[in-house]
Amino acid sequence: MKFSTASISLLLLSLSQLVSASPIQLVSRATDSELDVWSPTITYPDGEYVVWQAGTTVYNVTWETDNIPESAQNNTGIIMLGYLEDGDDSEHLDWRYPLASGFQLTDGVAYFTVDSSRNLTTRDDYVLCLLGDSGNISKEFTIQAAQA
Ligand SMILES: *[C@@H]1O[C@H](CO)[C@@H](O)[C@H](O)[C@H]1NC(C)=O
Ligand SMILES: *[C@@H]1O[C@H](CO)[C@@H](O)[C@H](O)[C@H]1NC(C)=O
Ligand SMILES: *[C@@H]1O[C@H](CO)[C@@H](O)[C@H](O)[C@H]1NC(C)=O
Ligand SMILES: *[C@@H]1O[C@H](CO)[C@@H](O)[C@H](O)[C@H]1NC(C)=O
Repeated sequence: MKFSTASISLLLLSLSQLVSASPIQLVSRATDSELDVWSPTITYPDGEYVVWQAGTTVYNVTWETDNIPESAQNNTGIIMLGYLEDGDDSEHLDWRYPLASGFQLTDGVAYFTVDSSRNLTTRDDYVLCLLGDSGNISKEFTIQAAQA
């Protein structure tokens, strides 16, 4: 239980950042080296060859579960969509409309659609953020806008 307090306070910090500011800077990128919390390794989507279409198709994100510390085994996670852009360090995470939430981190997978009501533009630098103990982002991948 060594990590419990740090994990909970980090999660609360993350959540309070979510409601206070947009776009947010992902806490974990600056603090990974200092904090003993679990940062997930996202295994899919795993590169720009991955092309999703906005609409009704069910997509998934997967992550490694064999390294989740005891203190985070019961945590639920949140998946947010963002994108990277040259010239700033923001992940542009859309904290208002998470793609998925309430799933168990130990599941290793979450399913969702990329609804066309998000009005996404086609980009090849989208990322997913998995937040649960600490957070981490996926590699960049492509989402194509909904057909008009
Ligand atoms: C974050 O995810 C990347 C892969 O997307 C992985 O290489 C890296 O190890 C992860 N960070 C940590 C702290 O686990
Ligand atoms: C996630 O989606 C990819 C691409 O469609 C698929 O290959 C993979 O089997 C899916 N993973 C799970 C756990 O459903
Ligand atoms: C996780 O849940 C189980 C079953 O409810 C409980 O026994 C265990 O103490 C919990 N672990 C943590 C770290 O909260
Ligand atoms: C998408 O566009 C419609 C029409 O302009 C607007 O009503 C809606 O709020 C937009 N959705 C988002 C998530 O911005």
